[in-house]
Amino acid sequence: MQFIRISLRWQSKGNRRRMYTCICNAIKEADLRKAARQHRGGAESVYAKLGKRPNCGHCLEEAEDLIAEEREALVEPMAAA
Ligand code: FES
Repeated sequence: MQFIRISLRWQSKGNRRRMYTCICNAIKEADLRKAARQHRGGAESVYAKLGKRPNCGHCLEEAEDLIAEEREALVEPMAAA
């Protein structure tokens, strides 16, 4: 079975930004990033904190990447100090 990664994007100040990470649950990238900073666990755990749960699962790999990226960004300033 082949999965298709779906992301809606818009142009903002020359940067490509994802609008929705999870289409099934209408979870925006910004909301996912914020939740990743506030809660522990992987994508399914963060979705649960948002009151959602995966449906088709197509977004989970991208969500895991975004969550990891967001948490790394939190740690980097402290590591550089
Ligand atoms: S796109 Fe996230 S569960 Fe379907």
